[in-house]
Amino acid sequence: MMLIHRGKFTLKREHSIHTAGFCILHSSPDQLIQQLHLLHPEERSYYDTLKFDKRRESYLLGRISAKKAIGALSSFEDLARVAIEAGVFQFPVVKYATTHNLQVSITHCDGLGIALSYPEVHPLGIDLERTDKANTTAIKEQLTAHELALTTTVPLPGDVTCTMVWTMKEALSKILRTGLTMDLKVLEVQSLEKDGDLYTSHFTHLIQYKAISCHAGAYICSIVVPGKTSPDLEEFWRFFRETASRAGE
Ligand SMILES: CC(C)(COP(=O)(O)OP(=O)(O)OC[C@H]1O[C@@H](n2cnc3c(N)ncnc32)[C@H](O)[C@@H]1OP(=O)(O)O)[C@@H](O)C(=O)NCCC(=O)NCCS
Repeated sequence: MMLIHRGKFTLKREHSIHTAGFCILHSSPDQLIQQLHLLHPEERSYYDTLKFDKRRESYLLGRISAKKAIGALSSFEDLARVAIEAGVFQFPVVKYATTHNLQVSITHCDGLGIALSYPEVHPLGIDLERTDKANTTAIKEQLTAHELALTTTVPLPGDVTCTMVWTMKEALSKILRTGLTMDLKVLEVQSLEKDGDLYTSHFTHLIQYKAISCHAGAYICSIVVPGKTSPDLEEFWRFFRETASRAGE
């Protein structure tokens, strides 16, 4: 079965309000292949060069969820005419959309693909990881002493908080469009606060941004937004919790 949730959310700022789109997709590889018609010819050519099934799957999860996130924001777009190219640091670049200045942030993990579409004036970044005790040692090696201390201050298991901090840093690297091609200390998480079942963080150096994280089932998703923005993510997190718990079944 393919599970798709799409929607919009507002990004409120002191003097402006923006709208972003999202798509949360859970799918088997077979069902994804049935969506191949949504690829632009340029994307299809690239897809045909991919040799490994795992990468074919993640590429489709990313492209299909990103196109559907664009569709959530601009319902009149013909999604097969939109191409999402990879920029020089592998960041996604939306091409040929009739809605100008739209961009996307993409993440995929297992059979889950999540994408946000946003107006270029208001960037967003997203990251999703499975909490896996086996990865915790590797993640811990990448965290700063300050981040390691932070992970002990919230009521979650250590492997969950380490993965949470890691997804915040990856989402930050996506909003910056650099990816992790830097000294990871630059992305240091400065604070970690529980807010209901969500967690909010600020960054030591990139003080213009903040991260909001949700842990559901075996997954953690973090979204990074400009620090002074209030995003209305209630519906997004509800769908994320629902999809993440089903994905773990
Ligand atoms: C970009 C990066 C943060 C992605 O995170 P990830 O957990 O591996 O993978 P995710 O599924 O969450 O995200 C992948 C998507 O991020 C997006 N992405 C890739 N590079 C990006 C960048 N520089 N900026 C913004 N988004 C980027 C892409 O859309 C990609 O999906 P696609 O290739 O299907 O289009 C990370 O892989 C990276 O920086 N890699 C390059 C450097 C590196 O490998 N360092 C390892 C040091 S530990």
